[in-house]
Amino acid sequence: MKIAILTSGGDCSGMNPAIKTFVEVCYAHNVTPYFVYDGLEGLIDNRIQAASHSDVAGIIYRGGTIIRSSRSQRFYEKKQRELAYRNLKSHGITKLVVLGGDGSFKALDLFHTEFGIEFIGIPSTIDNDIYGSEYCLGVDTALNVIAHCIDNIRDTASSFKRAFIIETMGHKCGYLALVSALTSGAEVCAIPELSLNLKNLENKLLREIEQGRNYLIIVCAEGLNRAKELQEWSQHTLGFESRITTLGHVQRGGNPSVFDRLMATEFVTLSLERLLGSSSNHHAIVYTNGKFDFLDIETINDNIYIIQSNLLEAGKVLSGESF
Ligand code: F6P
Repeated sequence: MKIAILTSGGDCSGMNPAIKTFVEVCYAHNVTPYFVYDGLEGLIDNRIQAASHSDVAGIIYRGGTIIRSSRSQRFYEKKQRELAYRNLKSHGITKLVVLGGDGSFKALDLFHTEFGIEFIGIPSTIDNDIYGSEYCLGVDTALNVIAHCIDNIRDTASSFKRAFIIETMGHKCGYLALVSALTSGAEVCAIPELSLNLKNLENKLLREIEQGRNYLIIVCAEGLNRAKELQEWSQHTLGFESRITTLGHVQRGGNPSVFDRLMATEFVTLSLERLLGSSSNHHAIVYTNGKFDFLDIETINDNIYIIQSNLLEAGKVLSGESF
């Protein structure tokens, strides 16, 4: 049997450990592993090659993805998907492991419906926004990178009596910002999932400033797009000189954390076992309440990820929603 792996959409740390595990587990099961380079673009352009142990030597600690990724617009065209199917067929590949986010899963669902190519999706995105999974590959490394950045910013903020508005990635999801705010001791957290009550925050923070607070850390999710407004608020209402730090793509890189490496191994091993042990796979592996499971891809695509209620509850104090 021949199975291929591809990485699609925004890359994340943990993809390389997953690729390494993929090759090793395939060989252990007498399966020939294939790489599709450049994500869905590579599927269309036939950048598909058999993989060997030497391809994955020394990659476990590296961020990004050695087989590269893409955000393919062409894959939305039926003609291009036909090409992709013919390419896979010419190599004798019938099953895929796909590391990506919801956009990639939607594309693969269509591909499966049209051509019957089986696949298992592995939620891989720093946004951590896949329905049915509390955890997506790469989010742990991204959170550690952000924590390190916020710790550094705190040093300079406290030396200058300044407010810093730190904007995190996450697309439309506030998970990265929320967990970062909670674990970095931020004073304010602004995310799409919580209503931001500046009046409540003002009352609380002005009291603290009177008692000696001399700097402020505000974490804001990019999906909310209110960093500028928060800068003006902290300047004019709270009286702090203020700066915005947009963390940007630094959050997508870095050596994968131990947790992401371990989860990459678990995700890939279980996904391959499933692909080898049953048919009609068009599922994604998910991880919730400490357990792995498989959900069919329609369920994932038809539902919206919601951040765990305990985290949202804790965040309400930082958004001013509860006082
Ligand atoms: O999906 C991951 C992500 O990093 C989002 O958090 C962010 O909005 C987006 O990708 C950035 O995309 P690009 O790398 O294409 O600019």
